[in-house]
Order: sequence, then structure tokens, then C-alpha cells
Amino acid sequence: MKAVVLAYHNIGCAGIKALLTRGFDILAVFTHEDGPNENTWFESVAELAAANDIPVYNPADINHPLWVERIRKMEPDIIFSFYYRNMVGKEILDLPPAGCLNLHGSLLPRYRGRCPVNWVLIHGEKETGVTLHYMTPRPDDGDIVEQKRVTIDDNDTALSLHKKLTTAAGDLLDDLLPKIRENRAQRIPQEQSSASYFGGRRSDDGEIDWRQDAAGVRFNSQTEMMMEQQRKKHVLILGVNGFIGNHLSERLLESGRYEVHGMDLCSNTIERLMGHPDFHFKEGDISIMREWIEYHVRKCDIILPLVAIATPIEYVRNPLRVFELDFEENLRIVRYCAKYGKRLIFPSTSEVYGMCHDPEFDEQHSNFVLGPIHKQRWIYSCSKQMLDRVIWAYGTDRGLRFSLFRPFNWVGPRLDSLESARIGSSRVITQFILNLVEGSPIRLVDGGRQKRCFTDVKDGIDCLFEIIENKNGCCNGRIFNIGNPDNEYSMQALADILRQKFAAHSFRSHFPPDGGFQYIEARAFYGSGYQDVQHRRPSIRQARRILGWEPKVPFEQSVDETLDYFLKDLPGWQEQNL
Ligand code: UGA
Repeated sequence: MKAVVLAYHNIGCAGIKALLTRGFDILAVFTHEDGPNENTWFESVAELAAANDIPVYNPADINHPLWVERIRKMEPDIIFSFYYRNMVGKEILDLPPAGCLNLHGSLLPRYRGRCPVNWVLIHGEKETGVTLHYMTPRPDDGDIVEQKRVTIDDNDTALSLHKKLTTAAGDLLDDLLPKIRENRAQRIPQEQSSASYFGGRRSDDGEIDWRQDAAGVRFNSQTEMMMEQQRKKHVLILGVNGFIGNHLSERLLESGRYEVHGMDLCSNTIERLMGHPDFHFKEGDISIMREWIEYHVRKCDIILPLVAIATPIEYVRNPLRVFELDFEENLRIVRYCAKYGKRLIFPSTSEVYGMCHDPEFDEQHSNFVLGPIHKQRWIYSCSKQMLDRVIWAYGTDRGLRFSLFRPFNWVGPRLDSLESARIGSSRVITQFILNLVEGSPIRLVDGGRQKRCFTDVKDGIDCLFEIIENKNGCCNGRIFNIGNPDNEYSMQALADILRQKFAAHSFRSHFPPDGGFQYIEARAFYGSGYQDVQHRRPSIRQARRILGWEPKVPFEQSVDETLDYFLKDLPGWQEQNL
């Protein structure tokens, strides 16, 4: 049976020895580099593997797609984890047909998590043991294959108990490996209600309180640990007043788990958040306030640089501004994240796929197809693509933690503004709403046959929130399309739906008569530097699988809410009409 082994420490060595004795073919061993500040009193997995001619790897992030791909190519039948310290994501767990098995140093479901040897002693347990269990993306949580019990004596220390557990691990594996190979191993679900979880230990956990008697001393900083877990994460959002920035801030604050530090040129869309104790706003231009930004990158945990020119007409009108802002200014922020070791969540764009011919655009496989240089519409796509690639390289070469997301035509309240639509600089739905409000014709470029998949901003933000949460690091080094493939409409269909909704709206009588349609060529509308895509449909398999996310809001509801928002929000409207 071909096995890939993730291992560290004495138990890692015991596991590898048991596999070799029982004739398993170990394709590769993944281990950790010994920490410079850690006292390495234990055996070396790397040396043991090397002595047996087994390839050894030490990836910074085993869940990075490159490593997942590498393991996939090895085609293991089974994966074992023996005291490997990092969480293993679903992508790897799904690879081997016989599953992934972990050996944990306690009698699960009790004492899940880190340092079980220390925690059982601290809690005065009389018995512990080792458990071999199937792995899930949650720590020490899957079905149990078998356990071996170990008695704890009054004289046991962490070291003596560790030795007993190492022996027990070897014995347990020796018994079980033949059964596993013959597919006879049992699976007993863990009793979730009796589970307990403990975290890592720090040096100050070892402080002795001399006022307590010897048996009562608990080297325990559980309270501090829980406080650390409950500490609100600080998120820096540059462009906090924008469409995504303001909706995301609201969601983060609602969760009670984050403090938001935001910068933008203005604050009209975030007035509702201003009094919130966890919301900190700074008015300013990212190309000028560089010190403030660097200071806040250092201070925050997660960075979202959302500032960008993102409307097609500007790509043709102001290509250099697009390059300077969307590429150059953001590159600086990417570099700060790399320099200060911060997690970066970067808004790529559905536009990177350009005129790709795939029926659905896939993050891993679709090609980016852009037109010739004089079609300046693509400078935006190209700038974003280049940054995506730079970020990826920082991730692989310099250990930058990042996730990229690609919004597909998100719609909802506060998408651009009617003022921006007035100068032609807004996304299509806002443009059409302005036409309806003014009684001017809806202009359908190139017959209105182009299709987009419209995604409600609430759905989009739900997905982005999960990316920020990043449970078990599942989003590290990943790119997510965030779109609704079922909401695919042509521009003509969008215009028809909007006109109907507008006609039926309770405020309809306050606006001028319908201006009808005007069919217009792209060159006349945008200029000669424009080129368009006929369809842009996302594959969202990745977000479904990794985040369990599913877009839910029907398009008609998104249109209702967007229309309603703009009609009610017209400046001076309420005073004049209500
Ligand atoms: C836009 C932005 O360029 C991207 O920043 C963003 O990532 C992307 O949306 C997205 O949200 O996924 P695009 O969909 O091409 O890209 O831009 P829109 O201005 O919303 O135009 C959509 C379609 O409507 C285009 O085919 C355009 O020609 C058409 N349109 C637009 C009209 O027919 N009439 C108008 O008055 C305006």
C-alpha cells in the first residue's frame, strides 16, 4: 500500500518505523524544520526518512495548491499524520482512496488540540492514551479506528508519559496496520458531546504559584488563551466607502469579531457605521497618506486594498490613471503586507478572464484572453492580472499569506452612484436606473446581447466574510470566483426587467415618462479603445467546496432592492416628494 506520511517528533518516527516494518511503501515524508527557539530533544523524522531513502519535504504551507498538486501526482492510497503540527485542508484529505489517518496523543474525543500530554497531567488525569482516527478539516475530530490506553502514575512527568505514549503508538499501529491494508479497520464516530479542546502552551504557562500546594499547582493560562481567541481581529480596508468596502464593513462589525480601520476619499456610504465603537475611519487619498497606511498595515491583522477605478469607460478614457491606481498604488500595499507578514485579501476581478471562450471561467484552468494593445479597455484586466501574479509569487517565494477573490457583476444598493452614472462612469445597472429616473433612453450597446451573471451583494459579502474568517487556513493561497452562475441575463433582458419594475414602483408617478431604448454601437458609446465580452459566467465549484458557500438571492430581488435604494436615495427627493 502506497502511503504519504506527515510526521514530526518521536511519535512521527515511531509511526514511520511501524509502517516500514509492516511493508508499507512510503512515497514521501512531510515534516517540519526544527525551530531555532525550540529545544529539540526528540528524534528527527527528516533523518529517519533520509536514512531510509524516502524523499523528505518541509513546505511552509502544505495546503498550498502547488503542494496539493504534488501530492495528488504521487497517487497515495492512504495518508498518515503522526504529530504533524499543521492543519491539513480538505483538498489533501480528499485525495487518497483509503482516507487520511491521524495519530493523536489522548483518548479522543477528550483532549483534542495541542499538547495533550501536558494538559492531562495538569488536570490530574489517571489515564490517557493514543487514538488513531480518520481526519476531517477540524482538529482531531473524525471517526476513531482504535485507541490504546496508558496509565498515568503519580510520578509521571511530561517526559515519562511521552515515552509511554510513544511505545503505545508503535504497538497500536503494529496491531492495526495489517487491518488497514486489508480494509478491515473499523470506524467509530466520536462522541461529540464529551469532546474537549486545548491549545498550545507558552513559557509563562510554566510559572509556579508558590502559595499553592504541590498537588494543586496548575500551570494554566487557559483564560489568557481564550482571551486571545476572542480578541477582535483588526481589518484594514482601503477604499472603505466603495461598494464592497461599505457592505463588508457592515458585515464585519455585525459579527462582533472584527475592528475595522478604513480609509477613503469620502464617507457618504458609511455614515451609518460612523458611531460604531469598532469602526475607525480616516479620510484621505491612498496615494498621499502613505505613512498612515504603512503604520496601519503593521497594526492590523488582515488587509484589503479595495481602491480601484472599476468602470469600463474609465479604462478607455483614463488608462494611465487605471494603471497608476489599480496597479502601482496597490503594489505598494502588497509589499507592505509581505514586509510585515500580514494576511492580504485582494480583489482580483472577473475581468481578468477577458474574452475567454470557456462556457464557465475557472480559477485553476481558464485562460486570460485580452485583445491588442490599442484596445485599452484591457489595461484594467491586465493590471489586475499582473498583481494577481505578483501576489502569487510573493506567496510561493516569500511566504505571503493571501487570498484572491473575483467578484462577478455584484449588484445592490450603493453600487456606484447616480452622480457617477451622470458622467457615464458607473456599472450598467446604475446607468440604466439613471436613464429611467431622468426619462432618457436606455442605451443598449451592440444590441444588448452581451450577457453577465449578476450577483447580489449580500451573497458576495457572505462569501467574502468566510474568506476573511479563513477557518483552518482553508483560503490561504487560494483564488475564489464569487458570482451567481444562475443569474445570467443579457443587457436587453436586464433593461426589460428594470423597466417593468420601475413602471410598477410606488414612486413611478414622480418621474418623467419612459425614454425607451436607443441601440448604439460600442465605438460610439465607449470610443475606439473598447472591446467587450459576450458572456462572463463563473464556475463557483471552489467556493462551494471549500467554503460551503452558495449564492441564494434571486435576481428579481436584487433588482427590486437596487432600484428601491436609488429611487429613495435621490438627493432632495424625500423633501420634495414625501
Ligand atoms: C465591470 C467592471 O469593469 C469590472 O470592474 C467589474 O469587475 C465587473 O464589472 C464585474 O462586476 O464583474 P462590465 O460588466 O463589462 O465590467 O461593466 P458594466 O459597465 O457593468 O457593463 C456591462 C455591459 O453592459 C457591457 O456589455 C456594456 O457594454 C453594457 N452597457 C453598459 C450598456 O449596454 N449600456 C450602458 O449604458 C452601459
